[in-house]
Amino acid sequence: MSEKRLSVVTGAARGIGRAIVLELLKQGRIVAGLDIIADQLAELETVVKEAGFSVITKCVDITDTPKFTETLEALAAEHNGIGILVNNAGITRDNLLLRMSDEDFDKVIEVNLRAAFVAARTAARSMVRNKFGRIISISSVSGIMGNAGQTNYSASKAGLIGMTKTIARELAKKNITANCVAPGFIETEMTKKLPELVIEAAKQLIPLRRVGSVDDVAKAVAFLASDDAAYITGQVLPVDGGMAM
Ligand code: NAI
Repeated sequence: MSEKRLSVVTGAARGIGRAIVLELLKQGRIVAGLDIIADQLAELETVVKEAGFSVITKCVDITDTPKFTETLEALAAEHNGIGILVNNAGITRDNLLLRMSDEDFDKVIEVNLRAAFVAARTAARSMVRNKFGRIISISSVSGIMGNAGQTNYSASKAGLIGMTKTIARELAKKNITANCVAPGFIETEMTKKLPELVIEAAKQLIPLRRVGSVDDVAKAVAFLASDDAAYITGQVLPVDGGMAM
């Protein structure tokens, strides 16, 4: 039974990550939510408490590799390992290729891809020991189709897919699966800042003709974390209303 194993979610304070935390708690799991925004983590704790659950929260910058690794190792030591890792934290620094700076390229790769690698490497140690693990990374339709203005972001999200397939192949014999969820256009802080015109244009590209909700993504993640998904590995599950088919 995977329910008794610790689930760790990065970028848990808001948006998709927060919805994933709530969905995993509804499945009866022990969940640790990590984020860089302390006050929103505190608010998450309150919301979770009001819903009758409890959540472990840790305020950490996932690009601070020593601190992030130390946090994950401490969680693993306290909970007999990490059972489920959800690499969700992500940022955008959009610009057209000709205007994109090295800093903006590197920063997005650092948060979206490098930190996911660090987390997977750290979590895998206890997963190998326990012969159980689920590594779920939140990619994006941008990593599959590309998206003008997102050279850095698309590269990071495509990178997660390649990384996931390699982890799936390396660790399958240890009963560890690795999969990606690739959301399309989901209503969160990340997309709220886009102009209405862009949102309307995006909807025209979605066969289901609506923007997705954070719960649409969280339910897919919860499925991949569940025992029902035990025979699925190395896959990319789009949650995009048909956008990237
Ligand atoms: P969001 O911006 O609402 O939430 C991201 C969370 O990650 C925030 O709580 C933020 O504080 C945290 N975070 C960022 N940098 C961090 C760092 N260095 N250390 C610790 N935490 C950090 O974004 P949203 O929309 O919830 O996105 C979640 C994931 O889903 C991201 O990986 C994003 O790329 C992906 N995604 C989102 C889509 C959308 O339409 N909203 C579409 C496709 C993928």
